[in-house]
Amino acid sequence: MSAHRVSLREITAETVRSICALEPHDGQRGFVAPNALSIAQAYFNRAAEFRAVYAGETAVGFIMWRPGEADDACVLWRFMIDKGGQGKGHGRAALQLWFERLRSQGIKTVRTSYVAGDAGPHGFYLAQGFKDTGAQLPNGEWLMELAI
Ligand SMILES: CC(C)(COP(=O)(O)OP(=O)(O)OC[C@H]1O[C@@H](n2cnc3c(N)ncnc32)[C@H](O)[C@@H]1OP(=O)(O)O)[C@@H](O)C(=O)NCCC(=O)NCCS
Repeated sequence: MSAHRVSLREITAETVRSICALEPHDGQRGFVAPNALSIAQAYFNRAAEFRAVYAGETAVGFIMWRPGEADDACVLWRFMIDKGGQGKGHGRAALQLWFERLRSQGIKTVRTSYVAGDAGPHGFYLAQGFKDTGAQLPNGEWLMELAI
């Protein structure tokens, strides 16, 4: 259970450096892009949205999403919790907040894809209710889906 209240906050000129400094454990690097790269990619995909994850007043993570193919679908594109903040329920709490936000916008389905691997996020997503679709994307990532 998280000791501090988790929130999703807009990233500002003042906070962007601290958000780009957040990183997973070394062994998890292959599973998520660096936050600076994600923010740069969002610049070229104007439908993408991103927020910093805070626990209390401390930045602990990053989440980025984009619209899905259907109007009521959304794609979780990037998600990470800093190595120092993992295992405290922040990831779960951040996703729950994000789902609430999506529900209020009429979103019914969330998809995400993951890189398979021992230190990867597959088990985490299963624990959050995502189901395997069995589909593999051209980039080798596996597709999961959740009705929110
Ligand atoms: C995946 C990630 C976001 C999880 O964040 P976190 O804050 O450590 O997760 P939580 O503490 O909220 O864990 C929630 C639950 O998932 C479980 N869990 C977390 N990581 C897990 C994993 N890799 N495999 C299986 N279960 C996992 C926890 O045990 C916990 O279960 P519980 O509530 O029954 O105790 C984090 O490990 C991370 O940033 N990883 C590197 C980047 C990455 O892979 N991102 C996903 C890209 S698609």
